[in-house]
Amino acid sequence: MDAKQIFVQSLYECMDGNLEKERLYSLIEKPKQAKMGDLAFPCFELARNYRKNPQEIATQLVEEINSIYFERVEAVGAYVNVFLNKALFTKKILQQISKEKTNFGYSNLGEEKVITIDLSSPNIAKPFSMGHLRSTVIGNAIANIAEKVGYKTVRINHLGDWGTQFGKLMVAYQKWGNEDQVRANPIKELLQLYIRFHEEAEVDTKLNDIGRKWFKRLEDGDAQAEELWGWFREESLKDFSRIYELLGISFDSYNGEAFYNDKMDRVVHELQQKGLLIESEGAKVVTLEEENLPPCLIQKRDGTTLYATRDLTAAIYRYETYHFAKSLYVVGNEQTLHFTQLSYVLQKMGYNWAKNMKHISFGMMLKEGKKMSTRKGKLVLLEEVLQEAIQLANNNIMEKNPLLEKKEEVARQVGVGAVIFHDLKNDRHNDVEFSLEDMLRFEGETGPYIQYTHARMNSLLKKGGYRETNNVSVVDINEAWPIITRLMALQDTVMKAYNASDPSKIAKYLIELAREFNKYYANVRILGDEENKQARLQLVYSVKTVLKEGLRLLGIQAPDAM
Ligand code: ARG
Repeated sequence: MDAKQIFVQSLYECMDGNLEKERLYSLIEKPKQAKMGDLAFPCFELARNYRKNPQEIATQLVEEINSIYFERVEAVGAYVNVFLNKALFTKKILQQISKEKTNFGYSNLGEEKVITIDLSSPNIAKPFSMGHLRSTVIGNAIANIAEKVGYKTVRINHLGDWGTQFGKLMVAYQKWGNEDQVRANPIKELLQLYIRFHEEAEVDTKLNDIGRKWFKRLEDGDAQAEELWGWFREESLKDFSRIYELLGISFDSYNGEAFYNDKMDRVVHELQQKGLLIESEGAKVVTLEEENLPPCLIQKRDGTTLYATRDLTAAIYRYETYHFAKSLYVVGNEQTLHFTQLSYVLQKMGYNWAKNMKHISFGMMLKEGKKMSTRKGKLVLLEEVLQEAIQLANNNIMEKNPLLEKKEEVARQVGVGAVIFHDLKNDRHNDVEFSLEDMLRFEGETGPYIQYTHARMNSLLKKGGYRETNNVSVVDINEAWPIITRLMALQDTVMKAYNASDPSKIAKYLIELAREFNKYYANVRILGDEENKQARLQLVYSVKTVLKEGLRLLGIQAPDAM
């Protein structure tokens, strides 16, 4: 039961279809102040259509609208303001939540069509960076949100497990590496080797050529190169799995760049046949002059392939395998050019579905205003950040609730929740300055604040002996109303978050809902008054259910106690 929809229906019946329902829906606003009403309809467009003045239209509509769902309907200037029937809506929404539970807020916009989501996609033999954390948590939240609006999702971890850098790493390992050390501490040692390679290559320029040769050997299937590569990959994956487990995130596919090795020939061939491939200084490129873009490099002079070649192949593979309705790439904004080129090349190949590919870009994680760089070793290691957050959560528990059950599990959920929420609460386009202190804050607009509110509700329900029922009665109508209007807004918020691929809309919603509840909690004695206790607990139950579900959409768990 959506109040906006009901308002649209009433308006629609009064104006003999002059405006489409969808148009009406999009025009409806929320009045600036709550005392002006719950919803407002501006009459300007309608007035233009009828060639009347908007005030007149507003007055006329007010006279005609007649619905049990509205307490009051008023014309204020050019606006029709409605005050919803609070008791009726409160009852309906509480009933609906108790019936639908975590399904509340679901809509079937997607009709179970498939969306592929390329997310996380770290580079093997390098540590998992903060930038990859952004892709992981934003991508996972977008996937959850897409499911909530009725899509099927395929989460793809497009591992960076192929490319010239592995040639370089092989050279570095063979020159300076020590097997035992690498086995004992793979990512750290490999990173040191990688950094050393770049330092030495600045002096010894031949090193880069040797690196390229080793990559060529790898692409040609040389056994020694393949063995080293396989080993680097395996060790890296062990490391990454630990992080994914901490984050509570899983993937439907780990098909990384190397997966497309035996599939690229076909694509290069196809480009050739379609007359799109042009020789340029021995390399093969697709020009994008009309699009005003630099050419897309497909094959190097020595015949080796590139990042773009593998992405082209992957895009086609994904379409043929999943028949996606949409294909999203959650990747930092420094790769905008790459994804624009990718889409144009596919369109030139005649693939219309390329229009359904979308680069979901996000800002960088900065340190003192600058990009973090693997090569220079200026890197914050995600795993250390997560461990620190968990430790802090653990200290909090030991201080405040030492008898808590499953302490370790709760500390993980809270520490990780803090890190994820910190990332998701801001518009993804913005750069984020890395601040451990900010990430580990547990008060204010943070994940732990919402988790804590949720846990408190849970204990209220227990203490009060809440009984599940569909027979809802309504108390504290005015005090509860700000909460009720927010509960009613869940579905719309999810829809907006989906349309903008923006999880921060959910994060902000949860903060508001938790705040409104905490206000109510400060003003109303929930357990004190036996007669109304169950009715109030019903409200608590509803908010708790929605907070938990909202956190789930963001990829954050909500412990029952903390
Ligand atoms: N591995 C790449 C990087 O770390 C990101 C890959 C993103 N996905 C893709 N299909 N290109 O920069």
